[in-house]
Amino acid sequence: MAHSKPDSDRIVFSVPGKQDQDWSAYVEDFRHSAHEAVDWIASYLADTRQYPVLPDRKPGALIDALPAQAPEHGEPFDAMLRDFQQQIIPAVTHWNHPGFLAYFGTTGSTPAILGEMLSAALNTNGLHWDTSPAVAELEHVALAWLRQWIGLPEEFFGIIYDTASTSSMHALIAAREMIAPEARQEGSSPNFTVYTSEQSHSSIEKGAIAIGLGHRNVRKIGTDSAFCMRADLLEEAIRRDLDAGKRPLCVVATFGTTSTTSIDPLAEIASIAETFDMWMHVDAAYGGAAAILPEYHQQFAAASRAHSVVVNAHKWLLTPIDCSAFYTRRPDVLRRALSLVPEYLRSSEDPRAIHLMDYGVPLGHRFRSLKLWFVLRYFGRDGVERILRSHIALARQFAAWIDGDSAWERVAPVPFSVVCFRFKGSDADNEEILNRVNAGGKVFLSHTKLNGRYVLRMAIGNLGTGLRDIEQAWHILKEAAAEID
Ligand SMILES: Cc1ncc(COP(=O)(O)O)c(C=O)c1O
Repeated sequence: MAHSKPDSDRIVFSVPGKQDQDWSAYVEDFRHSAHEAVDWIASYLADTRQYPVLPDRKPGALIDALPAQAPEHGEPFDAMLRDFQQQIIPAVTHWNHPGFLAYFGTTGSTPAILGEMLSAALNTNGLHWDTSPAVAELEHVALAWLRQWIGLPEEFFGIIYDTASTSSMHALIAAREMIAPEARQEGSSPNFTVYTSEQSHSSIEKGAIAIGLGHRNVRKIGTDSAFCMRADLLEEAIRRDLDAGKRPLCVVATFGTTSTTSIDPLAEIASIAETFDMWMHVDAAYGGAAAILPEYHQQFAAASRAHSVVVNAHKWLLTPIDCSAFYTRRPDVLRRALSLVPEYLRSSEDPRAIHLMDYGVPLGHRFRSLKLWFVLRYFGRDGVERILRSHIALARQFAAWIDGDSAWERVAPVPFSVVCFRFKGSDADNEEILNRVNAGGKVFLSHTKLNGRYVLRMAIGNLGTGLRDIEQAWHILKEAAAEID
């Protein structure tokens, strides 16, 4: 086969749908379609309410609708953008919809969308400092800004992982390294124990499972009537385990639990962790954003005594998934647990060069800090505070409506922007109400179980959510209740 002569501006494929084969045609093709895509995004954000929050789809429908094989020849952007709108969008659950009131409300805000685009364009990968100084150093700066806003001391080192689940798993890895450094060589021991409340997120148990601590070595500590961990039960459990020859590694407290957003007593738990020389991790995946507000400073203050803290920017901090800020005041321990540098990854030994690969399981490191940096700059502290307070005020308003209606009851305090409530009927009634409400497409709420009973949850966290969405949700809920009554 004859070899074609390399040409400085020639690309080795034709721009799909065109005959062009040079680099500038490839880039111009992008420029044109990217403008169209951005126009589509702006129209989407301008009127997200036109879409049903939840798609009306059967499992497998999208798989069946799309070709089973990839195309043999490249296709033009037009075709992809058309299919995106016609095939993909109808199968999307719109987390960026003001009527999304399920799980935790989130926002893919405009500065973060731009940050994601630019980060993809650079495709820069911060394994170690030399592979992208900007990734290492902007992450340092953006996380230092956020750390100051939430009041953690300067000694806390920050790193961005994909999710809170990964962050908490790293907390457990560091905890084991601090208490039982032999584990790096020898592997885990069935004697290690971890403590967290019965209301904590399943990611804590998963983290323990993933690193080989064993599910049955995670102690789920009982909670009080407000769903907060009982420090007395924690201490009892630790003493019992010590008597039985166990080695307590870590206690995980939650600042904003998943079901009710309850706040564990951080100061009491910190004292217990200090007494028994354990690692303390604070899961503030959702509630951590509220620590920006001065009115939450006191409740969050003892997080400074923890060894690690996680705050998800992709929950209540206007940043699209994924962006989880993990802070630890023992980066030396995390590094000891996970640093492993083969020759091909040797790099700058300058003490100011941050090598992110030393502080986590993943080697590759996305430029996530760009979107977070854009978010913090675009909204500013006062803007973020106004948004968080508006969500909290909406939740309190909704809670007041529930409290004022004898057919409904509130089943947990409202420390942040989530309301847990139920219709005064059976569990089946509540489930039916939820199904009817969600089928309407205007709003989407989720559920949980508290004290064995089926409970509805309204979680407010989208930038676009306003009083009209909450009023509408309340109206739809009452209508659904009237229909089944
Ligand atoms: C308190 C808490 N921790 C951790 C998580 C897990 O978050 P991620 O999806 O980032 O792993 C959640 C998710 O809702 C949560 O509510």
